[in-house]
Amino acid sequence: MNDVEVTVMRFDPDEDETPRFDTFPIGAKKNMTVLDSLFLIVEDQDPTLSFRCACRLGMCGSCGMVINGRGRLACRTKIESLGDKIEVQPMRNMDVIKDLSVNMDKFFKNWEKVKPYFVPKEETDEFSVIPPASGRREIIDENQDCITCGLCYLSCDAVALRGEDGYIGPAALNRAYNLIADERDGAKDERLDMVTDRDGAFGCRSFGACVEVCPKGIKPMKTIQKIKTKKLRRSVGLKY
Ligand code: SF4
Ligand code: FES
Repeated sequence: MNDVEVTVMRFDPDEDETPRFDTFPIGAKKNMTVLDSLFLIVEDQDPTLSFRCACRLGMCGSCGMVINGRGRLACRTKIESLGDKIEVQPMRNMDVIKDLSVNMDKFFKNWEKVKPYFVPKEETDEFSVIPPASGRREIIDENQDCITCGLCYLSCDAVALRGEDGYIGPAALNRAYNLIADERDGAKDERLDMVTDRDGAFGCRSFGACVEVCPKGIKPMKTIQKIKTKKLRRSVGLKY
């Protein structure tokens, strides 16, 4: 058991003028995660601490936080990888509801802007299939596992600089690319136009933090470059 200090940002917009930080000593066991430590604090020290989680497996995307200065999933971050002083803050670029719980409406409003669902090319009751042996699925496979955790969005300085109604952010653009690149999708041109204005792919400043923090190994900065390339190729009449 290691003695660890967990310092957590506390803020209730209905009660507090400014955030404060509370420090909680905990005994950390091997393999304990930051999420485990937050539960321990609620059980033993302060039941009013607010945070969000669901699966505890890195699948639901709801436990994103800034941990020791970097966006991470609390359920996938082991205490032993952080040392004996840990600082936990809510996700940036979003409004705090209470303590570590944030309102993700801005993130999902931008997600909706890219028409994030598959549009079939023609009316049919048949499944639309890319033959597995064709290799053509590889184009979209590597970026498919987004869990909409928002870590790339919280880490993106272009989002921070442009404000609420500005740049739509890396996750939404990555989703758009996957649909644009999917040979079965019927809304490719419409979607490409939707995501290539100043608020879309051309709003990316290639800071690269999205690539650093993504817990699923997705590289949104790379897919954003591919959207730009497709737009430029289309504009000069090349296959895209
Ligand atoms: S791209 Fe990665 S970091 Fe961004 S929302 Fe999806 S899983 Fe999270
Ligand atoms: S609780 Fe689901 S990803 Fe962490």
